[in-house]
Amino acid sequence: MLSPRTELEKIFEKAIQKSFPKETSEFKLDPDIKESTQPQFGHYQFNSAMKLSKILKIPPRQVAEVITSNVDKGSLIESLEIAGPGFINITLSPHYLEKSIKQILRGETFDKKAKQKIIIDFSSPNIAKELHVGHLRSTIIGDSLSRLFEFLGHDVLRLNHIGDWGTQFGMLIAYLKEECKEILTGQKTADLAELMAWYKQSKARFDADPEFKKRAQKEVYHLQNGDEESLEAWKMICDISKKGYQEIYELLDVSIKDRGESFYNPLLKSIVEDLEKKGLVTVSEGAKCLFLEGFASRDGTTQPLIIQKQDGGYLYATTDLAAIRQRIQDEKADRIIYVTDAGQSLHFNMIFKAAEAAGYLDRTKTKVDHVPFGLVLGPDGKKFKTRSGETEKLIDLLNKAIEKARLLIEERHLEMTPSEKEELAKKLGIGAVKYADLSSHRTSDYVFSYDRMLRFEGNTAAYLMYSYVRIQSIKRKVGIDPQLIQEKTDLELSHPSEIALSLHLTQFGDVLEQVSVDLLPNRLTEYLYGLSNHFNAFFRDCRVEGTSQEKSRLLLAEAAAKTLKQGLFILGVETVERM
Ligand code: ARG
Repeated sequence: MLSPRTELEKIFEKAIQKSFPKETSEFKLDPDIKESTQPQFGHYQFNSAMKLSKILKIPPRQVAEVITSNVDKGSLIESLEIAGPGFINITLSPHYLEKSIKQILRGETFDKKAKQKIIIDFSSPNIAKELHVGHLRSTIIGDSLSRLFEFLGHDVLRLNHIGDWGTQFGMLIAYLKEECKEILTGQKTADLAELMAWYKQSKARFDADPEFKKRAQKEVYHLQNGDEESLEAWKMICDISKKGYQEIYELLDVSIKDRGESFYNPLLKSIVEDLEKKGLVTVSEGAKCLFLEGFASRDGTTQPLIIQKQDGGYLYATTDLAAIRQRIQDEKADRIIYVTDAGQSLHFNMIFKAAEAAGYLDRTKTKVDHVPFGLVLGPDGKKFKTRSGETEKLIDLLNKAIEKARLLIEERHLEMTPSEKEELAKKLGIGAVKYADLSSHRTSDYVFSYDRMLRFEGNTAAYLMYSYVRIQSIKRKVGIDPQLIQEKTDLELSHPSEIALSLHLTQFGDVLEQVSVDLLPNRLTEYLYGLSNHFNAFFRDCRVEGTSQEKSRLLLAEAAAKTLKQGLFILGVETVERM
């Protein structure tokens, strides 16, 4: 199904050509069609007459008149009206909307594009280090973008670029060899919190005790040379961390493939050699660096991208260069999306630039996006901190949301079995956390507030889930399965609230398309919030059960339910049948 806007663009493009055939052979003007801001201006507005008037040197109203007379209204347009200096207000025909609602019911909501291979690099915590709310944001946003592209029919590879390699492992292994050897052999296990505590202690030892430091460095050496016992120890440590993350992913219902930094380790040496061969490397203070155009520091000199330290060690950037090459050359990615906090924007801009300079990335063939996001703030307006920064706390945060949802459900005295209540609490609590995150503009900071995110009114998960539930209850009351009647029943849309809801429903595909371009999930939350409001207005104004339009209205409600459920699914929020 094409969105009405896309169809209108085509129609108006033809009308412009027909109106001014000579002039339009010299230039092409994409018609500017926008949704009307108020119902008295119709459903859409054509806004290009003013621009054309300047080019053609004809008064804008006259331009609008000529174009209007040349528009082929077809079955799409009911009426056109010229307004103000030369706007054309467009009203769609109810028949077109009726046809569109039936397409929505059949699941034809958007226009399929060529299938792409899209890699989404998100979540990506660091082994034995704190998993912070930034990682939670990355997980929620990355999962939602993955769901969107999967829904649009693309081949999505979700990658967890875990920080699982580096000198910290030497420290940890040296420490555990002395303090708790059984962990390294797998005879004993620990949780993420213990591991993090050991990490801190090993770091303190490393900084204070030169003998320990030597032993740690020796461990790094063993590890990098593939010593089996060291690798085994490293794997044990990674597994403990991953078990901790897994618990969070399960609660969030997020699936992701682990492919940490260690995966690219064997490629790093050749990356540096390749960059040297291409003449891109400069040695500065013993370190191998790339000086890329356009990255000035405050003092006017160019900021280096360091790819190898003086001691031979590789860096975060080296791994990302290896990763981008591997993803383009081996994985054949058409698009790569990186979801991290805004603090890493410079890093990714440099990586993209370096990859272009090295010939790994051709931006006309592969699209790369860094998707930065803002901070999560505490109620005090300061950066949100999980208590003393211990890892378990992130899962506590999610569990607390579920606990609060459970209390709300108790207050409402719903007729439900305990297990139904439990399921609802989980969906509501987790849905609230995700929705609150995705509905804030991605690049802004937002304040984390359980009370706000769990409200039943306003732009919240609970409000949308509840709108969905209302539709389910209408269906139960009417007692007809919409699926069984959808092919045979003709819709009749006449009430302004029916028309407004239908029009909104036809715009779902447009919104998904927009999010796939600018990667801003809050566009989808706003759309769904609007949808709920339109539905509630319809529900207030138009009786369904027992009227002559019962079947038509039931189908309209069903199209709204389908769209709501699909939209919420893309946000990672699950719907329920009752609440
Ligand atoms: N591990 C990094 C961090 O915690 C995020 C990795 C993002 N992905 C990447 N390819 N660099 O900040």
